[in-house]
Amino acid sequence: MTRHLITSAIPYINGIKHLGNLVGSQLPADLYARFQRSKGNEVLFLCATDEHGTPAELAAKKAGKPVAEYCAEMHAIQAEIARGFAMSFDHFGRSSSPQNHKLTQHFAGKLADNGLIREVSESQVYSNADGRFLPDRYIEGTCPNCNYDRARGDQCENCTKQLDPTDLIDPRSAISGSTDLEVRETKHLYLCQSNLKDDLDAWIDSKTDWPVLTTSIAKKWLHDGEGLKDRGITRDLDWGIPVRRGDADWPGMEGKVFYVWFDAPIEYIACAGEWAEATGGDWERWWRTDKGAEDVHYTQFMGKDNVPFHTLSFPATILGSGEPWKMVDHLKSFNYLNYDGGQFSTSQGRGIFMDQALEILPADYWRWWLLSHAPESSDSEFTWENFQASVNKDLADVLGNFVSRITKFCRSKFGEVVPEAGTYGPAEEALIVDLTDRVARYSALMEAMEVRKSAAELRAIWAAGNEYLQAEAPWTTFKTDPEKAAAQVRIALNLIPFYATLASPFIPGAAAKMLEAVHLEDTGFPSNVPAALAQMQAGQSFDVPEVLFAKITDEERADWETRFAGQRD
Ligand code: 2FM
Ligand code: ZN
Repeated sequence: MTRHLITSAIPYINGIKHLGNLVGSQLPADLYARFQRSKGNEVLFLCATDEHGTPAELAAKKAGKPVAEYCAEMHAIQAEIARGFAMSFDHFGRSSSPQNHKLTQHFAGKLADNGLIREVSESQVYSNADGRFLPDRYIEGTCPNCNYDRARGDQCENCTKQLDPTDLIDPRSAISGSTDLEVRETKHLYLCQSNLKDDLDAWIDSKTDWPVLTTSIAKKWLHDGEGLKDRGITRDLDWGIPVRRGDADWPGMEGKVFYVWFDAPIEYIACAGEWAEATGGDWERWWRTDKGAEDVHYTQFMGKDNVPFHTLSFPATILGSGEPWKMVDHLKSFNYLNYDGGQFSTSQGRGIFMDQALEILPADYWRWWLLSHAPESSDSEFTWENFQASVNKDLADVLGNFVSRITKFCRSKFGEVVPEAGTYGPAEEALIVDLTDRVARYSALMEAMEVRKSAAELRAIWAAGNEYLQAEAPWTTFKTDPEKAAAQVRIALNLIPFYATLASPFIPGAAAKMLEAVHLEDTGFPSNVPAALAQMQAGQSFDVPEVLFAKITDEERADWETRFAGQRD
């Protein structure tokens, strides 16, 4: 039995995520976690909300709420939606947890002890009216490039030009609108990542089985341009983890907090602490190599924009601490999912958001489409037409129809019990051989986190059942040889729990319904195909399940296409 630690990139707290966010992190992580559990392995699957930084502060301000209250509410909402999508997290934590405060301050202290933190004096914009420094996003003004009058201090949303706050014409505070701004000196802590460049380089070189997407991004950041730069890990903000050196005050850093990208990945560890507090589990067994974690296999899931932080910054924090923390073994990253000819965009409210998706269809429909079209080797695109075609064909015609057809036929000829008569012949043996081969392939693909290819193999396994039924046609056999038809029905009925256990990482809801209909429990991954296909024994009762997947009609598709064409408020 292997022990798998699995983390998904932790979503920002500032609003409900869209399907593009979901497919690049939480969903494939859940697929892998469910698969590893079905193989009988021990899994700790963690995710959390990323609650610090200016986006959280700004979103709370927009909602007219104190930021702590806003974060608590949004955490509950995101947790509920994750449950709706059947995310099987062992814990869904919060980066604002006491555990993360303590651990982030601990890491900063260790890094400082090891000479990897230096203080840097910087000039930043200070607003006299607001009595605070204004980070980039808190400053607005006119873009020097396109004259857009609401450009932000870091970028113009209109022409996408990257800006410095000092580039803006007529700058003003985004909080109060005040133009009474001045440039002041402020001190910040920098993590000396450049000192760790060789260690990081060697560590990445040792990861020969990582996807090219992951290593190429990491190597680019290590070697291109000026290479790995030291990085500011503190900010002049109120909301965040106060800068402390372990348990002690940090002279000169009063009133400052750690940068969100410093504390967010540390939450992967802290989240295990939150899990331990909630369940009585032993989190160090998963995270400390001196306390049992040396045999843990750790996999991270994320979108490509997160790769530099996970291949360089977070490893720099861990390596620099000099402590025996578990480091990531495999990092699975994804390209982007686009929406109907453009990009999904949270700031512009473009695309389908997780709550909206669940309002129109159950989670399994989305899970299936998203995973079977995961943007692995390149960006992929959601279109309503493709979604309709894929759901109707794969889920309704192939899987749903198989289950419905065989259970109804059996009921009409033999009743709602597995028929006893007849023995398996060459066609059944050939089916078992074919499925044995396919299941081994599917298992290897799932193990390798080849998400699209796994979905394709699963679909082929479902199709094999349909082809068998089509070729053997028990409804025809029954007229001349009812015993033979009984054997055909028996093996076909046995495909239901077999398909359910294989498919449950993709479509857990439908898989549970299928198992319920045949009165069986999920007994784990069916590596032994002949044994799995003998689970439903003669005489065992079953129920004809309700329709597993309703087809998406052209009217529905057209309706949703129009409804989601605009922008969400
Ligand atoms: O891109 C994002 O949604 C970030 N909130 C991911 C953070 S992952 C990690 F660092 F915790
Ligand atoms: Zn502009």
